[in-house]
Amino acid sequence: MEAPGRMTTNALITGWGMYAPSRVLTNDELSTMVETSDEWIVTRTGIRERRIAADDETTTTLSVNASRDALAVAGLDAADLDLVIVATCSPDYPLPATGVLVATELGARRAAGFDMQAACSGFVYGLATATSFVRSGMYRNVLLVGVEVLSRFIDWTDRNTCVLFGDGAGAVVLHAADQPGGLLGMDLFSDGTGAEGIIVPAGGSACPAGPATIAERKHFIRMAGREVYKYATRQLTESSLSALRAAGLTVDDVDQFIFHQANLRIIESVGASLRLDPKKAYINIEKYGNTSAASVPMALVEAVAAGRINPGDRLLMAAFGAGYTAGAAVVEWTADPARAFLAPGAQTRLGKPQVEASEIAEPMAVS
Ligand code: ACO
Repeated sequence: MEAPGRMTTNALITGWGMYAPSRVLTNDELSTMVETSDEWIVTRTGIRERRIAADDETTTTLSVNASRDALAVAGLDAADLDLVIVATCSPDYPLPATGVLVATELGARRAAGFDMQAACSGFVYGLATATSFVRSGMYRNVLLVGVEVLSRFIDWTDRNTCVLFGDGAGAVVLHAADQPGGLLGMDLFSDGTGAEGIIVPAGGSACPAGPATIAERKHFIRMAGREVYKYATRQLTESSLSALRAAGLTVDDVDQFIFHQANLRIIESVGASLRLDPKKAYINIEKYGNTSAASVPMALVEAVAAGRINPGDRLLMAAFGAGYTAGAAVVEWTADPARAFLAPGAQTRLGKPQVEASEIAEPMAVS
């Protein structure tokens, strides 16, 4: 997808927010549950701890917390949203869609809502989708959430998977504008021959739920780690280069790399293949583990709060996940990072105090 010409409506990120549950599960705690160690997990993955949703938290409640921040940063009322897209592979229910529940909970009375399932690549797929809705002229305000409560889909007796995943949510608001910026180039990829690589085998039409599937623990995530690792490393590199080509840019033109945080070694390997400056890759996997569709937006929100992203900067977001799927997006950032201080949630502000809207510059002039 190319950036629009002069006369076309553009889609810009004007709001952003994140939420991670307060319960921290450390590697040392995990090593009391399965045969593993802090040393093994840190060496193989870079993960030190992850967040786990409380019993009364769901994919919807995590989404709503992140979205309230994104709306406050954008200076937008939920009632003005036209569409809510929730990218997740751990929805509240197979049906109804979590996007509908999130829209209702936020008070987005006239918004359409649906879910997007591309596993860990879901946010990048969602960014392409939301941008298309706005650039086509169909909608002006779209909320995109990347969220997971994977802790409910993990076999806590399987050390191959339970050490890797965590819960969290990140959200952005895309707004119609006539300024340049936003999505400059992208690549979406899928290959169903990798279906067995990461799979929840039961609970769908191929293998309906029943006592036997539960006894065999088939409602939990299973992963062939080594194969996924190799495929992910290769495909993340290819998708990143393809998105850069579509944008007419090179690796050196990118100011900040926001990779899906699945494994620190995967990020380092992709970084070496792309020959990027490691200081330009934002890393937070040590705190959250693999939060699947939430990982790219959570890293984006933290990178903005950390002062690593400024107007005019070019970002490359890239993700890989079950399917297999992959997605990469080159985005020109346009918003004032100081607007993060308007978020009610402390995580979006990296704990800095909230300020009055009057103390912060108006959102960019929008059409
Ligand atoms: N603690 C201790 N030992 C362990 C653990 C653990 N938690 N898990 C596995 N091991 C053992 C294995 O049993 C194996 O033992 P063996 O040699 O006796 O058979 C040994 O450690 C090495 O196992 P490997 O699988 O080869 O370990 P590897 O170095 O490949 O790391 C990992 C495993 C971290 C899972 C890695 O393969 C990986 O990150 N894969 C990619 C995951 C990913 O990117 N997923 C993204 C998408 S997720 C989504 O879409 C929802």
